[in-house]
Amino acid sequence: MSISKQEFSRRRKALMAMMEPNSIAILPSASEQSRSRDIEYPFRQDNDFYYLTGFDEPDAVLVLLPEREHGEYVLFCREKDKEKEIWDGYRAGPEGACIDFGADDAFPIDDIDEILPGLIEGRERVYYAMGKDPDFDRHLMEWVNRIRAKVRAGAIPPGEFLDLDHFLHDMRLYKSAEEIRLMETAADISARAHQKAMETCAPGRYEYELEAEIKYACALEGGRHAAYNSIVGGGANACILHYVENNQKLKNGDLVLIDAGCEYEFYASDITRTFPVNGKFSREQKAIYNLVLKAQEAAIEKVVPGNHWNEPHDASVRVIVEGLIELGLLKGTPETLIEKDAYKAFYMHRIGHWLGMDVHDVGDYKVGDEWRVLEPGMVMTVEPGIYIATDNNTVESKWRGIGVRIEDDVVITKEGCRVLTDGAPKTVDEIEAVMAG
Ligand code: GLY
Ligand code: MN
Ligand code: MN
Repeated sequence: MSISKQEFSRRRKALMAMMEPNSIAILPSASEQSRSRDIEYPFRQDNDFYYLTGFDEPDAVLVLLPEREHGEYVLFCREKDKEKEIWDGYRAGPEGACIDFGADDAFPIDDIDEILPGLIEGRERVYYAMGKDPDFDRHLMEWVNRIRAKVRAGAIPPGEFLDLDHFLHDMRLYKSAEEIRLMETAADISARAHQKAMETCAPGRYEYELEAEIKYACALEGGRHAAYNSIVGGGANACILHYVENNQKLKNGDLVLIDAGCEYEFYASDITRTFPVNGKFSREQKAIYNLVLKAQEAAIEKVVPGNHWNEPHDASVRVIVEGLIELGLLKGTPETLIEKDAYKAFYMHRIGHWLGMDVHDVGDYKVGDEWRVLEPGMVMTVEPGIYIATDNNTVESKWRGIGVRIEDDVVITKEGCRVLTDGAPKTVDEIEAVMAG
């Protein structure tokens, strides 16, 4: 299962329909990145490039030329090369770019210096993501300067550069039915992997063993690549928000927080579950856990079309502040504690982020001065947490070192929202039942 050719074509047409008359859009692919000496990182295509092409090779450039007689969609790519393909794998080549990827016209990437200036010439506006790839920025300026050098011979250089991201990222924010199906698959795979981690957890195992369980379970189902670096934090390590060392032994009586999710066909999932290493929550752990869960439920209730981006966050803050007062961890009235940001000692991040091809996906959170209004097709995470630092002397020692986050992926629908990641056990009873085997 992957995005259909029709959808890639529809995306290119939608982008071209937004472009001003007589303009050109230029978008380079990702390049291979060296890890060490002659070993490369696994290649990962640029999401904007893939979103418009479905083309998964490095050293390629997409060019869109609305209304061009000889074809609007031009792709530069590597030529076929028998020798190189034996060593490094299949290449579509310009012919394959047309036949298999729907390009109207395709050229070898080595000819781009000769061909692209001619395609730019006469177009008044260039849509391009300046500053993302400094090498490519320089090439583009060279091509434009080459046209500028010929103005006395009648050449017309472009006079305006527009930010391609602005248009493309707004498109990416609204997920189609095909995209949501892939995100459901990513979410289901990761949810089962989290359950596997719960089932196989035991005191004495190491954090990296649970990381391995998650990665293995995801890879077995086609989610070979993690959407981000997995966080597996036992005990107080859960209070380090971006803890990725994952090298400590899990202790009887501690909680473990796992924030991990796979990517499936270029779409991310992002799940956090927190559970007791020995399968049974202590009284304090349960109190904090249920408070985070209540905050998450309150936030998810606010994920409905017409509400603005910040409403779920505000709802989670309110529940957490009231709950922390009730448990004696904060003192004062909710209003003052919220106004003074006192809760930020326990809950220092925001409720979530857009989710899509990128785990922290593209799309604006504000339009002008106003929070963005939630609309069907948007996908976001809802991930409140409470983290009680080991050196927080304002609370009784029994609370210190407890860190809990609960994170789900939620798609906004016409009626409200749907949680994509509800396959991962979440209530205290569900978790304890799964861990009891
Ligand atoms: N795992 C990254 C995040 O939750 O934002
Ligand atoms: Mn997240
Ligand atoms: Mn996460």
